[in-house]
Amino acid sequence: MLQTTAQRYNALMIAIHWLVAGLVAFAAISAFVIDEMPNSSAKASMTNLHFVFGSLVLGLVVVRGLLRLTTTAPALPADTHPHVAKAALIGHMGLYALMVGVPLIGVITAFYRGRGIDFGLFQIASPFDSNRTTGKFFKEIHELLAYGFFAAIGGHALFALWHHYILKDGLMDRMRFAKSGTKRAE
Ligand code: HEM
Repeated sequence: MLQTTAQRYNALMIAIHWLVAGLVAFAAISAFVIDEMPNSSAKASMTNLHFVFGSLVLGLVVVRGLLRLTTTAPALPADTHPHVAKAALIGHMGLYALMVGVPLIGVITAFYRGRGIDFGLFQIASPFDSNRTTGKFFKEIHELLAYGFFAAIGGHALFALWHHYILKDGLMDRMRFAKSGTKRAE
């Protein structure tokens, strides 16, 4: 178990972390389903769902990033080597960059393809003139970064599991909801 003043992130940070993880999974699954579908109104709806899941990722990551800057992260295990701590920080910054960059470029792609986003209660229309060449260019970047993002998520999950099952240092508890009576970051 971690012996620190703050053992875990606060409940809001933890909730957003797992919500973003779920939404990224839905965005990924919907992207692969779209790719297999013939042109139809069902494909258009699934594509819009992809836009909505992805946009929610973008919005939530911005909120979480701001919270992360204004709250104290729980301390790493006391025996963490400074180089490891630095590598973890760089890795997490890279994940943030991809969590913002992938959906942001997705939005630009959709807009250049003349597609808006329908959130049900309101819509966001494309502010750009539709441009096939530019749309294709951004689509390639969006897809390339998305695959890099999936690899980074895989690495992130592997490190977490390594800490949990091999090192058994309780690091994963930082991202688990507290049972009553345990300490957390403010
Ligand atoms: C975390 C968020 C997102 C992830 C992980 C993601 C992932 C992907 C992936 C993997 C593909 C390619 C699928 C294939 O191989 O064909 C794709 C395609 C696409 N994505 Fe996203 N995406 C995200 C967010 C968004 C957002 C927010 C938008 C726009 C609002 C968007 C717009 C698009 C478009 C236009 C395509 C091309 C679909 C087509 O082939 O017609 N994406 N996305």
